Amino acid sequence: MRTEEIKQTLVLIKPDALKNSLTGYVLSQLSEFHTGLRFAGAKIVHVSRMLAEEHYAEHRGKVFYPSLIEYIMGLLHYPDEPNRRRVISLVYQGPDAVKKMREICGPTNPHVARETKPGCIRALGTVVPLKDAAGNEIGERMDNLIHASATDNEAEREIKLWFRPGDFPPFMRSYPTEINAEDHYYFKNGNLYITHEPGSVCLIAPGDVVWKSDFDALRLLSKGLPAASSLEAVAAKYLMNYTVES
Ligand code: CDP
Ligand code: MG
Repeated sequence: MRTEEIKQTLVLIKPDALKNSLTGYVLSQLSEFHTGLRFAGAKIVHVSRMLAEEHYAEHRGKVFYPSLIEYIMGLLHYPDEPNRRRVISLVYQGPDAVKKMREICGPTNPHVARETKPGCIRALGTVVPLKDAAGNEIGERMDNLIHASATDNEAEREIKLWFRPGDFPPFMRSYPTEINAEDHYYFKNGNLYITHEPGSVCLIAPGDVVWKSDFDALRLLSKGLPAASSLEAVAAKYLMNYTVES
């Protein structure tokens, strides 16, 4: 297999696209016919706050961040229907996967998308004013229907955040994996344990196939040492679709 053929990118069909029944349209725009890219992974996800905050970690502290987290969690588009809060999370692969997907999505701001790239997916989005408690406009949020990784490094971080190796056919795993030979890792209230605590969730058991980078992080974190990934970034995918979030 040639290496350019296994470039992958993460795509999220966001809650506004589901709410506006644009899923079928978006998927057809992303099809191999239009993009030359193939499906590698797919899942329907009820986005937890932990996953949302890890996914958009680079935007922490920005004025639109709290609203962005509520948007991706589906709280804004389905305020009274928790059962409908979900995104479609996809991995596509093929030559220039990241660039091709970003191109078909278009510019982040739907107004700019309509002006500069009519026909792109984000041209169908909206821009919503953000107000403070006193009602003053403090910025805007861009409801732009779709997320696509911006760089190969971002794609790797995001794919490992949303997907386990076992979510892909074995020949479609792009990053190094490892089989956990001995340890159990449990998670509860933001803490990592190597023995079962009442109420904890088992993230990884012996025999599980895991991303090597996650395993490296857990080994260090379990010894209280700093690691390249946060515990939340590793744990979020194991707790995916675990409980209803508010
Ligand atoms: O999604 P993309 O990589 O194109 O843009 P970003 O700058 O990484 O921002 C992530 C997401 O935050 C955007 O897709 C928008 O939904 C949202 N955003 C926003 O609401 N207001 C902004 N001023 C910038 C981004
Ligand atoms: Mg981005």
